[in-house]
Amino acid sequence: MTGTAEISMIVAFGTDMGNAEDAAMTFAESVAPLGIQAEAIELNQVEVAELQSVTHFIAVVSTFGEGDFPDSATLFWEALESSTERLENLSFSVLALGDSSYEFFCNAGKLLDAKLEQLGATRIVDRVDVDGFYEQPAKAWTADVVKILTAERGATAPAEAVAAPAPGRERHEEFEAALVVNRLLTAAESDKEVRHYEVDLAGSGITYQAGDSLAVHATNDPALVALILTELGVGPDHLVPDHDEPLGVLLSERLEIRTPSRALQDVAGPAAYGEDVLDLIKRAGLKTEDVLDTLRPLGFRDYSIASSPLVHPERIHLTVASVRYPGAGRDHRGVASTFLADRADRIRVHLRPNHNFRLPAPDVPIIMIGPGTGIAPFRAFLQEREATAAAGRAWLFFGDRRRATDYLYGEELDGFLDSGALTRLDLAFSRDQDAKVYVQHRMSENAEELFSWLADGAYVYVCGDADRMAKDVDATLHEVVARGGGMDADAAHTYVNDLVKSHRYVRDVY
Ligand SMILES: Cc1cc2nc3c(=O)[nH]c(=O)nc-3n(C[C@H](O)[C@H](O)[C@H](O)COP(=O)(O)OP(=O)(O)OC[C@H]3O[C@@H](n4cnc5c(N)ncnc54)[C@H](O)[C@@H]3O)c2cc1C
Ligand SMILES: Cc1cc2nc3c(=O)[nH]c(=O)nc-3n(C[C@H](O)[C@H](O)[C@H](O)COP(=O)(O)O)c2cc1C
Repeated sequence: MTGTAEISMIVAFGTDMGNAEDAAMTFAESVAPLGIQAEAIELNQVEVAELQSVTHFIAVVSTFGEGDFPDSATLFWEALESSTERLENLSFSVLALGDSSYEFFCNAGKLLDAKLEQLGATRIVDRVDVDGFYEQPAKAWTADVVKILTAERGATAPAEAVAAPAPGRERHEEFEAALVVNRLLTAAESDKEVRHYEVDLAGSGITYQAGDSLAVHATNDPALVALILTELGVGPDHLVPDHDEPLGVLLSERLEIRTPSRALQDVAGPAAYGEDVLDLIKRAGLKTEDVLDTLRPLGFRDYSIASSPLVHPERIHLTVASVRYPGAGRDHRGVASTFLADRADRIRVHLRPNHNFRLPAPDVPIIMIGPGTGIAPFRAFLQEREATAAAGRAWLFFGDRRRATDYLYGEELDGFLDSGALTRLDLAFSRDQDAKVYVQHRMSENAEELFSWLADGAYVYVCGDADRMAKDVDATLHEVVARGGGMDADAAHTYVNDLVKSHRYVRDVY
């Protein structure tokens, strides 16, 4: 937070997967030629009172969960939301990252922008809401803000207003890798299908760390492409205005044809849960020209890496639940999960580093809560701790439906217990008895001991389902701290907030 006599600036970000951080860093680099030395920091590191002592506040924030602030911004938002301190002397701009296929598009950015205005701060430029790919819109927004700051300072605009990313910070290049293992983890009788994959990194130059994710660029299901073409009454070679490639290629490789976009729903009416693009085309009787411009680019899907590079330097392991469900008399299949399961041989991937989801020093205890595919990064952590003979204790909470069919990596987990990499394993199989038992129940049963681990400095990691699990686990963690630590609800809230702020409570949830 330093600057010239005229400008003192805070540049801050709220991020889940690093996009907002990247955009904020690019912004901070871009104002350096103006003599403004601003380092991009997490919103949680910003005290609301500081906003009264600086002249400019630049925030890049993504939206997460169901319209929520990402974890790295929740504490800041909690403080700002209830603040009534006037900010008349503050100029600000908000870049909101999001995805319009979610109901609460860019909600966190919208809330932040509105609150700053309400407190009397002045916009430098209007909020920009980014739908999906953020690099270009972030550059344009940065250039707009820099232009105004330059004019404010009466300086001449720097020749290159937007700095290139610093070395070592570029997003990883895409790489075409061989998928060398595709193995069913769940038993054939399970009502789920979860698979273990291994991606060969040889020749890629990719080096990863336990805690990172891998982005998988899939192509669409040829059966679904064929059904859409039939419904539209055209062949795969059909050419459409403004596109170099024929419709078959666009539908197979370029466009999202599973999850209906907002624009398509504006034309065809709202999609019910699980309905795909074909369901909407059929219902509204749409033609190619009605549909094509509403479709979004086909995005990659992220998967938490399930291996440690110390044990598997040349391979990345993944743990993926195949999305398959019936609807309208046909199978509906998730784009990337069933591409991997049914068709992939070579796959385009790129690494998604997750700097916040890292093991602490080897002697620090860790608590891992990862039911279902949430087990993935913890398998990586345990491989790493075993390989390094780390002294720190490790406690894993795992759960799924049934032990007989869904105990993912069960034998390996028993092996980690034997080797001492895992100190405690608590299992919750929800359907093995009449009453449903989930990981949060196991946490609650062990409140005192869990709290004693926290008091010893343990880190808490949560991975897996964001909709229900992560919320229930969060509520239970507060309860555990209150009960185990003998605190009232307010004190427990502050305690957990301190864990978030010091990166001792981190989540990789989706
Ligand atoms: C950081 C991160 C890490 C992740 N790690 C993992 C991981 O380790 N393992 C893993 O399996 N996934 C993981 N995911 C989720 C993964 O990225 C994909 O979202 C998931 O595999 C589905 O992608 P898809 O392309 O197969 O399905 P899509 O084509 O994207 O379809 C998914 C959509 O189908 C619909 N749907 C799904 N099931 C049903 C149903 N039963 N009934 C009706 N509709 C339904 C829902 O609308 C859902 O949004 C992670 C996500 C993130 C962001
Ligand atoms: C689990 C999850 C939930 C999301 N929820 C929303 C949402 O409610 N609204 C929205 O606009 N975008 C949502 N997004 C999209 C992200 O905001 C978008 O991908 C953004 O670029 C991520 O930036 P980040 O890497 O800085 O977190 C969600 C993404 C994920 C993975």
